[in-house]
Amino acid sequence: MTPIQSCILKKNKDINPIWLMRQAGRYLPEFREIRKKNPNFIKLCLNENLSSEITLQPLKRFDLDAAIIFSDILMVPYGLNQTVNFKKNFGPELGELDLDNLNKINAVDFINKLHPIYKAIKKVKNNEIIKDKDLIGFVGAPWTLLVYMINKSSPKKNNITDLNKNFFKDSSKINKILKLLEEYLKIHIKHQIKNGATIIQIFDSWAGLLKEQDLQNFIYIPTLNLVNFVKSLNIPVICFPRGIKNYNEYCKIVKPDVISIDYEINPDEIRKNTDITIQGGFDPKILLTDQEKIKLEAKKYLESFKDHPYIFNLGHGILPETDPNMVDYLIKFVKDFK
Ligand code: CP3
Repeated sequence: MTPIQSCILKKNKDINPIWLMRQAGRYLPEFREIRKKNPNFIKLCLNENLSSEITLQPLKRFDLDAAIIFSDILMVPYGLNQTVNFKKNFGPELGELDLDNLNKINAVDFINKLHPIYKAIKKVKNNEIIKDKDLIGFVGAPWTLLVYMINKSSPKKNNITDLNKNFFKDSSKINKILKLLEEYLKIHIKHQIKNGATIIQIFDSWAGLLKEQDLQNFIYIPTLNLVNFVKSLNIPVICFPRGIKNYNEYCKIVKPDVISIDYEINPDEIRKNTDITIQGGFDPKILLTDQEKIKLEAKKYLESFKDHPYIFNLGHGILPETDPNMVDYLIKFVKDFK
């Protein structure tokens, strides 16, 4: 059994496996090298030779316990025929969502469009490096994808008023998209698992935008459906509802196998309130400081979770300006911590 699976399935408290969100990305010179020659990000994600190579880059450098497939949560809207572009210094930009044509989408076309992702997973899975380690597949949660599909770019700041004012007005449109997402996210999850993903993480990056009264409809119900689907395939599921105010309530309702926390969560408090394996928390900005601060912050989490099953990770993705040597320092510190 891999260290991460042992932490999840056996609730092993004696080990602290580690992987890092966005571990394959712009802070690595070897990634930037490939990226420079591949200006189209979607095409890069759909190049199974390069995306499998990028997935393995951090594992060649660091003593990590998992690879996460190099892809993006927005590959699903792309698979549903919405245009997606990644503009430099701006982030993703999506095209108009053609509601009339949503009915014409079918599973065969969707799978064909995303097929290189599944081939990349298979390639990574067959690599010797991943033996005894996990390969994490992922999807965006329906709510976060809905935000991108309707807003057509990242909402600025953590502020719902930045979303289109008419966002919630057309509930039949919203329900139509949510239903479609549930169906196709299940297909995407199933194919990632079929090709070798051993864990699924659900990223709900914009969970923090919603008011309490909207959580049920937009987060709890759609996410629970996906969580139960992953569980039915006998694969552990990690949920990361970034910025959600009430992590305890979320855990009670959604019951993921692992709850990934952002850096605003007090580790002692969440630990006291749940038996679920916990992941993450470490503020990625600390990696931009110095070794002393990195050590202190890492210790905060490792000590708080010394009697709780815990997978070390960040509270959000690694920042592009991070020095890979600091990442190495953090990983070694976590691995040597007793
Ligand atoms: O973690 C990993 O290493 C695996 C790969 C991965 C990427 N995106 C690659 C990527 C994963 C798991 C994601 C998830 C993702 N994508 C999320 C959820 C996590 C989060 O960050 O909240 C979201 C919201 C997206 C959408 C997205 N993709 C945005 C907003 C951006 C632009 C901003 C940014 O961080 O660069 C991307 C682009 C993206 N996805 C890059 C990478 C490596 C950078 C692309 C580049 O090289 O320019």
